[in-house]
Amino acid sequence: MTRPLRIAPSILSADFARLGEEVRAIQDAGADLIHFDVMDNHYVPNLTIGPMVCAAIRPHVTIPIDVHLMVAPVDRLALDFAKAGANLITFHPEASSHIDRSLQAIRDAGCKAGLVFNPGTPLHFLDHVMDRLDIILLMSVNPGFGGQSFIPSALPKLRAVRDRIDRHMAQGGQPIWLEVDGGVKVDNIGEIAAAGADTFVSGSAVFGAPDPGGGYRGIMNRLRDAAGSK
Ligand code: DX5
Ligand code: ZN
Repeated sequence: MTRPLRIAPSILSADFARLGEEVRAIQDAGADLIHFDVMDNHYVPNLTIGPMVCAAIRPHVTIPIDVHLMVAPVDRLALDFAKAGANLITFHPEASSHIDRSLQAIRDAGCKAGLVFNPGTPLHFLDHVMDRLDIILLMSVNPGFGGQSFIPSALPKLRAVRDRIDRHMAQGGQPIWLEVDGGVKVDNIGEIAAAGADTFVSGSAVFGAPDPGGGYRGIMNRLRDAAGSK
């Protein structure tokens, strides 16, 4: 089956002094989404950017902003990001006391909603909310920092979630994107795609390149080649 494939460059590795220029460059290169990593120094041991920065980059691009919340609690910030122009909002289920309610609140605010699973987080959080999800994000590193190495146990986990999404859709369920985040590079994106991901976060491989547009094109071309040669 061929499915749409998307790259979501993570601005965590961008030059924060030139964010507007950086996001325009990746949009011009053809990027499908902007991945926006929110860390609160509580749920994860790092502190990044909030809704004000989301609102500041919003006028610079038209592509969707994919907000990955690494925060606890979730609900108040999720709604602030919806107001700041986010299009997709994902959160970690163990950071919310009421997963069903958080997912519904994100959708009610006009955004696509999703759950994020750390490498060690079990998939049973999916059990009763499949119909509330637009996206499932599997972490292939422990969250908190860019530039880490891909954890191989993410591959069988991706296959398990791909199977679950396919069964859900075969029974008439809504489409759900399968996103992967952490350590995605030119040399492993082919096998990650083969495991079932359709949306690939890439931070250091895009913004660590001398020219982010070129970094994006390099990884997207490799993904297209891998998908074409299946
Ligand atoms: C890690 C973040 C990732 C990170 C990915 O907590 O969620 O989105 O920016 O960066 P790379 O692609 O460098 O692993
Ligand atoms: Zn992320």
